[in-house]
Amino acid sequence: MLASSSCSPPPLNLLATVSTTTKTQTLTLTRTRIQTRTRSISQSDPLRYCSCGRRHLLAASLLLPILPSSSQAAEITSSPSHIPTCVIDKFYPPKADWYEEFYAQATDMGMISYEAEIAGYKKELFGRLAVSGKSKNIVELGVGTGANFKYYASAADFNVIGVDPNKKMEKHARAAAVAAGLPPTNFTFIRGVGEALPIGDNSMDAVIGTLVLCSVKDVDISLKEVRRVLKPGGIYLFIEHVAASDGSLLRLMQNFLDPLQQFVADGCHLTRETGRHISDVGFSSVNLKSIFLSRTSLISPHIYGIACK
Ligand SMILES: C[S@@+](CC[C@H](N)C(=O)[O-])C[C@H]1O[C@@H](n2cnc3c(N)ncnc32)[C@H](O)[C@@H]1O
Repeated sequence: MLASSSCSPPPLNLLATVSTTTKTQTLTLTRTRIQTRTRSISQSDPLRYCSCGRRHLLAASLLLPILPSSSQAAEITSSPSHIPTCVIDKFYPPKADWYEEFYAQATDMGMISYEAEIAGYKKELFGRLAVSGKSKNIVELGVGTGANFKYYASAADFNVIGVDPNKKMEKHARAAAVAAGLPPTNFTFIRGVGEALPIGDNSMDAVIGTLVLCSVKDVDISLKEVRRVLKPGGIYLFIEHVAASDGSLLRLMQNFLDPLQQFVADGCHLTRETGRHISDVGFSSVNLKSIFLSRTSLISPHIYGIACK
């Protein structure tokens, strides 16, 4: 079960048994009561990075927590959309509306052949979410247009939070959620960034991220956030395109075209060694496979898998 205190073995190709046993903290997340942490988050504290010069005031007025216990997690009753803009801006510099709209449309329309090729891997991976009959809290980083919902969102007991800094993604994600059978009340879109999730410690059964660590500004901070919000035993499901092997022709092309890719694809990097970052961030286990998609050229090298807190 996802919500149990240990990770059970991933299905199919997804390798080995996972063992994690620590106490489970139950922190319920609802659409109107998004939990957030209160303590300093060491280097990853989003408010440290706020460039607006009002971080402490904003922190105090918008994220002021009420400690529920000795736990460092806390609740906020303000709308999650009230995450300070300066925190988002730090990790996702403001873009023109037309650019955000263009990129949302391009993501919605332009990924059809990619989605066809990756479908088998997604079925395998997201099938992992269906094993428990228990209500599940899931956050999807960089939810985009909601391309993953059709693989897992039909179960009525899923509460899904989609986090994305591009506000133009929301309408696509909502439509995809409805089309996938996720009741509207079970889906919350939060404009935010992976580097500063407005979600409490140890509160999520699963975190999903596909094609997002190529786009975040800081991979390690985002991964620390993933680990922080997962319950003990919670799982992180990922599919990411990555750098080709050192010295290969494809890697040379990726190196050469990386700046252009970032410009045309909203900050997407071609040369990240994301698997290494996932392995190094401190999950209790990481089951990761490398694959090479045939139709996607520059982004053919992929990793996918499950990490367990
Ligand atoms: C290539 S799209 C992938 C969307 C979706 N996950 C999918 O698989 O179709 C990358 C997404 O990451 C989002 N993104 C960019 N920077 C981000 C950040 N710092 N934190 C979270 N999401 C981010 C973009 O807005 C975009 O929706």
